[in-house]
Amino acid sequence: MTVPIIIDCDPGHDDALAIMLAAADPAVDLLAITTVAGNQTLEKTTLNARRVCTVAGITDVPIAAGCARPLLQPLSVADDVHGASGLDGPRFPEPTVDVVPEHAVELMRRILVEHPEPVTLVPTAPLTNIALLLTRYPECASRIREIVLMGGSTERGNRTPAAEFNVYTDPEAADIVLRGGVPVTMCGLNVTHQALATPEVVARFAGLGTELGTVCAELLTFFASTYLRLWGMPHPPLHDPVAVARVIDPAIVDCVDANVAVELRGTHTRGATVVDPHGYLGRPANARVAVALDREAFWDRMVAAVTALGARTP
Ligand code: RIB
Ligand code: CA
Repeated sequence: MTVPIIIDCDPGHDDALAIMLAAADPAVDLLAITTVAGNQTLEKTTLNARRVCTVAGITDVPIAAGCARPLLQPLSVADDVHGASGLDGPRFPEPTVDVVPEHAVELMRRILVEHPEPVTLVPTAPLTNIALLLTRYPECASRIREIVLMGGSTERGNRTPAAEFNVYTDPEAADIVLRGGVPVTMCGLNVTHQALATPEVVARFAGLGTELGTVCAELLTFFASTYLRLWGMPHPPLHDPVAVARVIDPAIVDCVDANVAVELRGTHTRGATVVDPHGYLGRPANARVAVALDREAFWDRMVAAVTALGARTP
């Protein structure tokens, strides 16, 4: 069964590979790419989505720009992680893939209303667009099969000691999504840090002998330099494609049911995801929480996607 999905992203190195996986894997049907401010400004994340689609030959998927800032707090980009462009490393050609004029939330709503079956949303960025969709068009909730997001963590953070970047950037949006009643699967840092892009992985992309394979190797090489400089990690975790992989084959990402709450008021912990698999707080489970990754299957699907796209582009 091919699962219809929309990816909501802030390219971003890992978002870029998530787009490629979503566009090429036969298990999913990518209906749209929507962008949001996060890793970089909306202008830059949208330009980067166009760049990725151009270099990957993804020409049949509409791209729509969404929210330029979080619901309440000012935007704080991750230029320390992804660079000034948001996609530093490779040199990209002028994009030939354009955006559609609709706002991301309007495009998502139209697709949800018109598509013959419920659609899975795959946010790999701050949840501002998704929260706005659920708030402005609550009737769309029944048309969403599930929300499989990259964000949060069962353990520590990566933007503060307690909070992961996507949730920290817009905690109110994450709170709205987690309390919105739509089935949510959370792929947090605890599982995405199992998707380490080792030199062997980078060599698989470089060894494809295609322009796209080389671009992926260059993206991962830049990402590796960032993780070594900022966190002393020799291999970077490729966060966002893990959420896509969960939709492609749930067996690749093991999950447990748990209550997940977003801390909105903590002086030191705002943006933390408080995950309670043992029910200490007596609250019902409101999410499936990813806990383990089949690394071999994950990387095989990722490399197969880039191979397929590379074969399509001249
Ligand atoms: O914390 C990792 C997440 O923040 C990823 O989605 C990355 O692209 C950044 O958006
Ligand atoms: Ca992202």
